[in-house]
Amino acid sequence: METNSLLLTLFLGIVSVSCEELLHRQKRDWIIADYMIVEGPHKEYPYYLGTIEVDKKLQMVFHLRGQGVDLDPKDKLSIDLRTGDVFVKGELDYETYQVLKLTFEAIDESINEVDTKLGVELQILDINDNPPVFQKDTFMINLKESTSQRDYLASVTATDKDKKGTNNSTFDLKIVSVTPKPPDELAFVLKQQDTTGTIQFKGCLNHQKSEKYTILVEAKDRGEVVQLSSTCTVIINIEDENNHMPVFTGQTGAGSIKERDSGVEVLRLQVSDQDSKGSNAWKAKYTIQGDKDQNFRITTDPNTNEGVLFVDKPLDYEEGSLRNLSISVENEVPYFSCKVKSRPSIGLWEVETFGSKSSNGPTHLPLHTRQVTIKVEDVNDPPVFTPAVKNVTVEENVAVGWNLETLTAKDLDWSHVNTFVYMKGQDSANWVAVDEKSGKITTTKILDRESPHVKNSVYQVTVLAVDDDKPPLTGTGTLNIHLRDKNDNLPQLNTSTMDMCLSEEPSMVNITAFDLDGDPYSGPFTFQLQGDNVKGKWRIDPKYGYTVNLVKENTVYAGHHELLLEVLDHQGQGAIHHLSITVCDCSGMTNCRMRRASGAKIGASAVLIFMTTILLLLGILLLAFLMTCKRELKLIPTDEIGEEHLIKSNTEIPGTDCKVN
Ligand SMILES: *[C@@H]1O[C@H](CO)[C@@H](O)[C@H](O)[C@H]1NC(C)=O
Ligand SMILES: *[C@@H]1O[C@H](CO)[C@@H](O)[C@H](O)[C@H]1NC(C)=O
Ligand SMILES: *[C@@H]1O[C@H](CO)[C@@H](O)[C@H](O)[C@H]1NC(C)=O
Ligand SMILES: *[C@@H]1O[C@H](CO)[C@@H](O)[C@H](O)[C@H]1NC(C)=O
Ligand SMILES: *[C@@H]1O[C@H](CO)[C@@H](O)[C@H](O)[C@H]1NC(C)=O
Ligand SMILES: *[C@@H]1O[C@H](CO)[C@@H](O)[C@H](O)[C@H]1NC(C)=O
Repeated sequence: METNSLLLTLFLGIVSVSCEELLHRQKRDWIIADYMIVEGPHKEYPYYLGTIEVDKKLQMVFHLRGQGVDLDPKDKLSIDLRTGDVFVKGELDYETYQVLKLTFEAIDESINEVDTKLGVELQILDINDNPPVFQKDTFMINLKESTSQRDYLASVTATDKDKKGTNNSTFDLKIVSVTPKPPDELAFVLKQQDTTGTIQFKGCLNHQKSEKYTILVEAKDRGEVVQLSSTCTVIINIEDENNHMPVFTGQTGAGSIKERDSGVEVLRLQVSDQDSKGSNAWKAKYTIQGDKDQNFRITTDPNTNEGVLFVDKPLDYEEGSLRNLSISVENEVPYFSCKVKSRPSIGLWEVETFGSKSSNGPTHLPLHTRQVTIKVEDVNDPPVFTPAVKNVTVEENVAVGWNLETLTAKDLDWSHVNTFVYMKGQDSANWVAVDEKSGKITTTKILDRESPHVKNSVYQVTVLAVDDDKPPLTGTGTLNIHLRDKNDNLPQLNTSTMDMCLSEEPSMVNITAFDLDGDPYSGPFTFQLQGDNVKGKWRIDPKYGYTVNLVKENTVYAGHHELLLEVLDHQGQGAIHHLSITVCDCSGMTNCRMRRASGAKIGASAVLIFMTTILLLLGILLLAFLMTCKRELKLIPTDEIGEEHLIKSNTEIPGTDCKVN
C-alpha cells in the first residue's frame, strides 16, 4: 500500500475563472493531477499523495484551502509551498466524506498576484469497513400454537454503511442456528428481499415440544477483500393452546347412592391432559348424557381436574336400581391440532389441522366419553297418604264420637315391608281422636265454628302414619274439617255499663250488639226494653239494627238504674241483658266517674265521721228494703239446644235510689 498505488486518475475542475482568464492561463503549461485517497488508517502520516505539476519558469507559491485543510475534516491535507507536493496528514473516512472540495492557488511571487485558481475534488475511496447492522439485537415474538405456517412471524432489517451498490455494502441474510433444534414437524426459514429478511416456519408449532426457540440470524456482506457480518436474535415464544384432549384414566368413589339422598358426591372421574397444567387448555369440562330426570350434576375439581358427580335430585329405588350415564369430557377452550403430512422440498409443507380458523377440516371431534353405572340402594320409604289432603263438611255441635273421616297411608317399599300406626298430629283444640289401626278420625269434643282455633270455618287436623323402622319414618295426612254454622250463639252487648247526665232535654247513649254466629244467625238485631216501669223514662230508638240509641227522658232522676234489654238475632233467637246506667249531674264535670273520684278528696277524719254516719244510715235503709223490696228470679228458655240464660232483675244496690224500679 504505497503512495504510487494510491494515485489513480486525473481529474480537473475549473471554478470561478472567466473566459479571458482561461485563455490567458492556458498559455501556461499546467498539469493538474486529481487524487483519490483510500479511507481508513495508513501505516504512517504524513505520506506523499502526489504533486500538482506547474510550469516552473515562473516563480510560484502554492496554496491549498477548503475541506481537509481549513474546513472539516481539518488538517488532513497539506501542500509544499514551493514544490506543490500534496501530503495526507490523517485518516479519512468514506462514510463521513465521500469527496473533499478544495481550492488550489498558484501565486506569482514577482508580482504577488494570484496567477491561477483551480477547484480540486479529492475522491475518498471506500473499503469494506462496515458490517451490516440490524435495527435491533433481539426480536421477541409470541405465537399461539394455532398460528398457521402461512403467517409470517418476524421480519429483520439490516443496513450497511459502505458504498451503496457495491459488494461491500451488499449483504446476505440467513438463519445460522435455531436453539433448541426444532422437531421433525417444524422448520424455520428466512426469505430475503433487499435488506429485509422475513422468517416463517414450515409444519406445526407445538408448545409441548418446546415453548421457546432462539433463532440466530446473520447478515454478511459480499466484501471483496474481507467479508463482514453481524447477527441478531429472534426469540419465539409458543403459547400453549388446546392441542390435547383430556382422556379418562380412572374413576373412584362408591358409585352408589341411597335413594332419596341428595347433594351427595357419588363418583370421581380422573382424566389426564397433556396441555399446560392450570391452563384453559388443560381444564376439563364434563357433561352428562342420559340423565333424563336431571338427577345428576357434574363439576370439575379445580385442583385435580377430576369430574365430581353429584346427585342433586333424589333417586327412587322403586324406579330402577341402576342408572346408566354417559359422561363426556372436553376442555374449556376449543381443541386444536396440527399434523404434518408431507414435506415437499419447495414451498410450505402439507399439514392437516383441526379446529383452527384457517383449516377446513371438521370442527367437532367426537368427545371422549365414559359409561358409568350408578347403583341406587333401597332404603325404607315413609308411609304415604293417598290423598294427602281430605276435606270433610260437618255441622258444628255434632255429638261427641262422630265419625269424621278415615285417612289411610301406604308403604311404597318393595324390600322393606313396614307396618305402621296412625297417630294424631296437629289438633290445636284437642277435638278429635285417631284410631291407631284404621286411621279413623272421630270427635271427642263438641266442635265450635266460633272457636279461635277455627279459621274461615275450617278446622285442620293432621294424622301421622309412623312405621316401625329405626329410626321410624313418618308420613303426614291432612283433614280439613269444614264446619257448617248453627245458631248456637245469642246476641251480646259490647257494653252494658254506661253513664248519662241529668238533663232538661231527653238525652241518649248508643248500644251495640254482636253475635258470634255467621249470617243468617247474626244481626241486624231487634232491641226491646223489658218491664212496665220504663214507660215515660227510657226507650230504644231505633229498635232494629246493630247499634241503637237508649233514650233517657228528663223524668229520670240521678242515681243508679238497672234496665232489662232483650236483643233478638235475625232468627228471633235472643236473650235479655242487664243494663247498668249511672245518671248524674254532670255540670262542671264530663262524666259521673269523675264526680265520684273528686268526691273522695276529703280530709281523713272527716271521711271517718262521714263513713260512720253513712253506715248507720245504710243499716236502717237495709232493714227498710228487706221489708219493702222483693227479689225474684226469671227463667227464660232461649234456644233449641236448651241452654238457659239466668237473668237477674231488680237487683238493688245499697246506696242507690230505689225509686228507679
Ligand atoms: C471494497 O472494499 C475493498 C477493501 O475491503 C476495496 O479494495 C474495494 O475497492 C472496495 N470496492 C468498492 C467497489 O468500493
Ligand atoms: C460483486 O462480486 C461478484 C463476484 O465476486 C461480481 O461478479 C459482481 O459483479 C460484483 N458486483 C459489483 C456490483 O461489483
Ligand atoms: C345399564 O348398564 C348395565 C351394564 O353396564 C346393563 O346391565 C343394564 O341393563 C343397563 N341399564 C339400562 C337401563 O340401560
Ligand atoms: C279442601 O278444602 C280446601 C280449602 O280449605 C280447598 O282449597 C281444597 O281444594 C279442598 N280439596 C278438595 C279435594 O276438595
Ligand atoms: C262489639 O264487639 C264485637 C265483638 O267483640 C266487635 O267485633 C265489634 O267491633 C264491637 N263493636 C263496637 C262498636 O265496639
Ligand atoms: C256510639 O257512641 C260512641 C261514644 O259515645 C261514639 O264514638 C260512636 O260513634 C257511637 N256509634 C254510633 C254507631 O252511633
